[in-house]
Amino acid sequence: MNHALQGFGLGLRVEHYRDFVESNPAVDWLEIISENYMVPGGKPLHYLDLIRHDYPMVMHGVSLSIGSSDPLDLNYLAALKALAQRVEPAWISDHLCWTGVDHHNLHDLLPMPYTEEALRHLSARINQVQDYLGRRILLENVSSYIGFAHDEMQEWEFITELTQRADCLLLLDVNNVHVSSANHGIDARRFIDALPADRICQIHLAGHEDHGDYLIDTHDQPVSDAVWDLYAYTVRRLGRVPTMIERDDNIPTLPELISELNQARAVAARETVEKVAA
Ligand SMILES: [Fe+2]
Repeated sequence: MNHALQGFGLGLRVEHYRDFVESNPAVDWLEIISENYMVPGGKPLHYLDLIRHDYPMVMHGVSLSIGSSDPLDLNYLAALKALAQRVEPAWISDHLCWTGVDHHNLHDLLPMPYTEEALRHLSARINQVQDYLGRRILLENVSSYIGFAHDEMQEWEFITELTQRADCLLLLDVNNVHVSSANHGIDARRFIDALPADRICQIHLAGHEDHGDYLIDTHDQPVSDAVWDLYAYTVRRLGRVPTMIERDDNIPTLPELISELNQARAVAARETVEKVAA
């Protein structure tokens, strides 16, 4: 477990810049989308520096494309490292996915095939990134809607083996576990049980769209009851892990998001007390 940060956070969004500067809301830490602060100058960096003064931060990227067969983008890595020197984040994360091939960005977080070949490919690239940044990174499990016919193992087996081979850390998105498990007919609790607890440094909670036969990861509405239940189960297993609400669209007011975050605080408090009492 990485103890560089504790408590409950939010993703920093443009809509809330002024709230954070003017009223110091009760949020323990903030997660920034790294790519939003990689352009020199301008309003985002101005607010970033102001808000960083008052809040610990973590950096979360969407463009590493660690699973792609294209070479790693060294310009991107240089910009990421420079931003990390500015922000001094508790940690840096991205997704366990690929986002493009042949230098075409598909603008989606696409799942990996769960194969030995992919494990070898990913662990070499993660080592390269971690060596360059001089720190271990967190990778996040993504939502998926289809699987590969040549998968050789379950997603949780793949993730566990990868973290050992690459000595990397995990960002556990509980909503993504719920969405993927529902879409693939898997028991979400079995997924959570199988993950390496000592490598999980952060949790994401988010909303999704329910289309009956399938779920879509949208981040545009409140956390669902099913995901709150799975979060409670996760906290019972892992204890208190730094947790945040991830909202990317249909952004509510900051007080609304803080009220949702306080629900996470309440679930974690309840479940850890019950665990101690048990
Ligand atoms: Fe997430």
